[in-house]
Amino acid sequence: MKNIIVGQSGGPTAVINSSVAGVYKKAKELGVKKVYGMVHGIEGFLKENIIDLDEYLDNEENFELLKRTPSAFLGSCRYKLPVVEGNEEIYEKIFELLDKYEIDTLFYIGGNDSMDTIKMLSDYAKDHNKHQLFMGVPKTIDNDLGITDHCPGYGSACKYIATSLKEIIRDNSSFGVEKPTICIVEIMGRHAGWLTAAASLCKDNDCEGVDAIYLPEVPFDLDKFLNKVKTLAKKKSSVVIAISEGIQTKDGKFVCELNDDDKKVDAFGHKQLSGSASTLANIVAKETGLKTRAIEFSTLQRAATHLASLTDINEAQMVGEKAVEEANNGKTGMMVILVRNDSEEYSCTTDIYDIHNIANVEKKIPLEWIDEKNNYMKDEYIKYAKPLIQGELLPIFKDGVVTHLVRK
Ligand code: F6P
Repeated sequence: MKNIIVGQSGGPTAVINSSVAGVYKKAKELGVKKVYGMVHGIEGFLKENIIDLDEYLDNEENFELLKRTPSAFLGSCRYKLPVVEGNEEIYEKIFELLDKYEIDTLFYIGGNDSMDTIKMLSDYAKDHNKHQLFMGVPKTIDNDLGITDHCPGYGSACKYIATSLKEIIRDNSSFGVEKPTICIVEIMGRHAGWLTAAASLCKDNDCEGVDAIYLPEVPFDLDKFLNKVKTLAKKKSSVVIAISEGIQTKDGKFVCELNDDDKKVDAFGHKQLSGSASTLANIVAKETGLKTRAIEFSTLQRAATHLASLTDINEAQMVGEKAVEEANNGKTGMMVILVRNDSEEYSCTTDIYDIHNIANVEKKIPLEWIDEKNNYMKDEYIKYAKPLIQGELLPIFKDGVVTHLVRK
C-alpha cells in the first residue's frame, strides 16, 4: 500500500478514535507513506477536506490521547451515497481524488448505514476497473451490525449505562417517603434494544437493579406499563425503569410520537427519537399523581470516554489494525468482524466478512434472551455482555478536567 485514507461516519462512540489509532499504527508498521483522514466522512472527502494524520499522531502522547478522546476525531457525517445510475459524477469525483492523493485503500469506520458506502464504492471499483480497495471497520453503540459478535463502542456505552443507572438507583432510593418517585430512563437504540438491555448489568449485591426494562423488540403496551408502575409503586419507595428510545406500540407508533408525531428525519432516513421518557413520565404523573422524573442519557452514553471499557478500547484498535492487515493482503469489499472464542475466559479474535451481507442489515436482540413476563433480561444476555464492559483506561487530567486531542 502506498497511501491510505480513513473516515468516520454515523453516530460517534467512546472508542471510535481507537479504531483510527489502530488503522494508523498498523499502516505505519507496514510502511504506508501517508495516512490521510477524511474530515466529516465521505461528505467531507467529496469537498477534498482531508488531513495528514502524521501531523497529529507521530508521537506516543497524542496517540494515547486520541484513544481517550470521545466523538469522531476526524468529524463524522450521515451521508448516504446515491445509486450509481445518474450519479456517476459523484463516484468519479471520489476516484479522481483517490488518484490525486495516490490513495490505494479507503477505510470507513461506521455502522450498518455507513457500511453501505463501502459496499457501493467496492462494487463501483469492480464494475469500472478501478484498482482501489475498500474496507469497513465496525463501530456502533447500537450493537446492531450483523455477523460480528458485537460492535466496538457497545461495551463502553453499556459500562456508562450500567454505572449511571446504579448511581440513579442510589439517588432515587434516598427518600423513604410513602409516595415513591418514578424515574424513567431513556436509552438510545432505534430498533434494537441492545443498549437498553445493558440496564440489567447494574444489578449486584450492592444494587437491586432497575425495576423493568422495555425494549423495541417487544411491542409496547401503555396500559400494561401503567399497571406495572402502579403495582411497583405500592410496594417500593423508589421505582427506576429503563426504556429504549425506540419503543413502539403494536401499531408501529413510536412512544415519543404519542405527544408529537412531527419528528425530524436524518440523512439516513431515520426519525430522531428522543422524548420517549418524558412522554411516559408525563402520562404516569397524570394517571397516578406520583412524582416522576425523566432522564435521557442522550449523547452522554456514547461520549463517556472517561468511563470507557478497556476491553472495548483494545478491540476497537484491533479491528482498525486488522482492516489494514487484510487490505495489505489485497482484500476489498469486506468488514472486519469480532469472533468470540469458545473458551472459559472471554477473548475475541478478528476476521473479515463480505460487506454485502452486513450493509443496511440490523441485528436485533434474540427474543429468547428477553424475559417478557418480568420485563427483564435473561442470564444469556448478561453472560454475553458482562465481558464487554471489563477494564478501565484512566483519562489524562489537566487542571482537574479530562483532556482530549482535537483537530487544529
Ligand atoms: O446510530 C447511533 C445513534 O447513537 C443511535 O443510537 C441514535 O438513535 C442515533 O445515533 C442518534 O442520532 P443523532 O446523534 O443524529 O441524534
